[in-house]
Amino acid sequence: MSCPLFCAMSCPPSCPPFVQSLRARVAVVGVVGVGALLGLTGCGDTGGHPRADPEVMALGKAVYHRSASCVTCHQEGGVGVVKAFPPLRANPDLSVADPTDLIRIVSHGLVGETQALGVTYNAPMAGLSSRLTPEEMAAVLTYIRGSWRNTGGPVTVDQVLAVQQAYPGRVKPWTVEELDAAGPLVPESPAVEGDAPPAAPDPG
Ligand code: HEC
Repeated sequence: MSCPLFCAMSCPPSCPPFVQSLRARVAVVGVVGVGALLGLTGCGDTGGHPRADPEVMALGKAVYHRSASCVTCHQEGGVGVVKAFPPLRANPDLSVADPTDLIRIVSHGLVGETQALGVTYNAPMAGLSSRLTPEEMAAVLTYIRGSWRNTGGPVTVDQVLAVQQAYPGRVKPWTVEELDAAGPLVPESPAVEGDAPPAAPDPG
């Protein structure tokens, strides 16, 4: 995976703006060796991105930022709005190996009291399965799990379909109690290390 190209799209906010624009230029001209220079700037944290397919991450990022989509509530960089919309940034719920609950939440919604990073939230989130294709949902989940210091592995279309097909026609949002009782439905996606090398391609 060509990291300099991909990382250019997702420089962490800790990077000074000149690094971000430098990275953007690297992406455009593809200068070999400038990646090593960027390494010296200490901005190498890509939040696990190297493990996810760049095309899937790009689609997920686009879905996240679509008008009236996730960014409206969870904000740029996933920082959330305290006591209104939970942060998705550095949120351990995003890095869990089993993505079943995340698929349930984004498919059907979430209501009732929830905790994120020690703060209580209690606004409803509507389900988005009628507005996002399974591909878009897998991509946006892969994006939020692999961004902003989260280390959750990619979510596949098959995982999304498996969870959605378990609840045909469901529109009722989940509560935390219901999620706790429901349990896993799909195989775990192994967590990724922030700067780990890309996994070997799956021969299947
Ligand atoms: C209208 C505002 C709104 C939109 C749009 C929205 N969310 Fe949410 N989201 C919320 C709220 C509010 C909660 C917390 C619900 C609760 O406390 O019951 C939440 C919870 C979550 C959680 C659970 C967080 C945790 O700590 O477990 C995830 C994951 C999530 N949203 C992802 C997304 C994604 C991905 C999108 C876009 C595809 C999205 N949300 C769109 C408002 C929104």
